[in-house]
Amino acid sequence: MKTPEEQAAAVKTTLHEALGGTGKIRDLVERFYDIMDSDPRAAGIRAMHPSDLTRAREKLFMFLSGWTGGPQLYIERYGHPRLRARHLPFVIGEAERDQWMHCMVRALQEVGVEEKLMIKTAEALWGVADFMRNKAE
Ligand code: HEM
Repeated sequence: MKTPEEQAAAVKTTLHEALGGTGKIRDLVERFYDIMDSDPRAAGIRAMHPSDLTRAREKLFMFLSGWTGGPQLYIERYGHPRLRARHLPFVIGEAERDQWMHCMVRALQEVGVEEKLMIKTAEALWGVADFMRNKAE
């Protein structure tokens, strides 16, 4: 028999499911980096990344899979993300956070996530992006 908590968890839709599952999250991340790679508004954060974005694409996809409540691909492969510590080599202030969010909101819209879900996802990711700030302003 399942406990009431287990029953509740079983019916609760994860963000992973709401967004459309693994394929959609993969599309989202591909679009996100295509935008970062081409939108002049993201030039500042693009310059922080290596010219080849393959590894960044794979890691953000794996991270977002688990972060949205789906398979914990990143943790299974690399362990605890320690995301803030991993971003310390890069100077991240409000401008960099906003560039990252600009790419993400555009990507969510362009892969066709409906508006309410887009806003909910973007708000949650804003919290993560804001937490990455490490520059005194
Ligand atoms: C706030 C602005 C942000 C900037 C400027 C930024 C920049 C970067 C850079 C330059 C890398 C290294 C890429 C590479 O070596 O290939 C990186 C890695 C990564 N970023 Fe961000 N990032 C930001 C926010 C975020 C957010 C909000 C998330 C998650 C929702 C995220 C998830 C990751 C992950 C999972 C990695 C790979 C970490 C690893 O090396 O294992 N980043 N980021």
